Amino acid sequence: MRLPGDKSISHRYAMLAALAVGRSRFENFSPGADCASTLGCVHALGCAVEHDAQGVVSIDGIGPQLRQPSQPLDCGNSGSTIRMLAGMVAGQPFTSEMIGDESLSRRPMKRIIEPLTRMGAEIQSADGCAPLRITGAKLHGIEYRPPVASAQVKTSLLFAGLLAQGKTTIEEPSRTRDHGELALRAFGAKVERSRNAVTIQGGQTLHPLEAYVPGDISSAAFFLCAAAIFPESNLVIDGVLLNPTRSALLDVLTAMGSRISMVRVEEHHGELVGTITLVAGAGSAVTIAGAQTALLIDELPVLAAIAPFTAGLEVRDAAELRVKESDRLSAVTQNLRAMGAQVEQTADGWRIPGGQKLHGAKIQSFGDHRIAMAFAIAALRAEDETALRHSECVAISYPGFFEDLERLVER
Ligand code: S3P
Repeated sequence: MRLPGDKSISHRYAMLAALAVGRSRFENFSPGADCASTLGCVHALGCAVEHDAQGVVSIDGIGPQLRQPSQPLDCGNSGSTIRMLAGMVAGQPFTSEMIGDESLSRRPMKRIIEPLTRMGAEIQSADGCAPLRITGAKLHGIEYRPPVASAQVKTSLLFAGLLAQGKTTIEEPSRTRDHGELALRAFGAKVERSRNAVTIQGGQTLHPLEAYVPGDISSAAFFLCAAAIFPESNLVIDGVLLNPTRSALLDVLTAMGSRISMVRVEEHHGELVGTITLVAGAGSAVTIAGAQTALLIDELPVLAAIAPFTAGLEVRDAAELRVKESDRLSAVTQNLRAMGAQVEQTADGWRIPGGQKLHGAKIQSFGDHRIAMAFAIAALRAEDETALRHSECVAISYPGFFEDLERLVER
């Protein structure tokens, strides 16, 4: 199979296209509602956006100075949109308001408010949450060490740093996905990295970009995990993102017993892309902790959902899961228990014994796309039927998820 374009990369390409002068064009752009929120904001900031039926998105960038939006920037459900775009509007000579849905309005924004304020922007919030009212300024570069490992925060500050005077350096507590750095370079900017620190010099100009967005490995994760729990399966996924800051899942599934190979690996605009084949097999219990947890943050719900069918899983240092689209730590626990699984929830993870049998149940998605997809996969191995409530939320990242799953399943 092939997958829709990576969500993280689609957001970044669309935002940077706005700051380049001229037309950028992206094939296989993410069809999810989150990236549509980003496109809506880019349009509201003065850029013409065209979206054709084949999934090609064209954006006419207007350069570093964007237009003041006449209405609040609606970020929908998308944490990436509000946090990363905040870095761009913080460097504009106008005030803008950023809003989101109920889930987004509960998520922590102090992590960007604090550093962007230090760079010179003025930001009002509802006690550290959206709506945000950002009065932009001529920013100045800072050196910053975020207290949490977050690629959204890093990218937000890199975008602000691009518009700032002087140098901005972000030193991460542990390495996170590096699409912000790679996308900036693809658009012609210079970004330096040394160990866990990235530095950007302000005032660089971007050129437009034409690119094919690689298949989303976080969406592939659901099918890879499904294949991993059915001994007869053999899955091939083409054109999928293999960036090492995103592919830690492959190491985990290998430890869990799958045989995985990566072939036809190529580099496109700094991103590795290739074909993954997975043949299922039996392995051993796995522990995920520390820096590996940060790299697997979006894949943890599905790994936990299949854990009862493996040799067992322990996850530690994953308190960030509590502040995602839902409280993913307790959403997973609740749903696993509804299916009859034994699971111990800790302050920052789970201990899930392997070798369990699950039964079908009524599952809550909590309006969270990754919870809905994770439990659609667990349901495949559970006895009897599972009903997923509000499963339409998969459209946040993967509108065609159920159709694609249907094509893979043999009955
Ligand atoms: C993302 C970073 C992660 C991830 C999110 C996408 C990104 O969030 O959970 O789905 O594209 O940078 P955090 O930066 O909050 O960890």
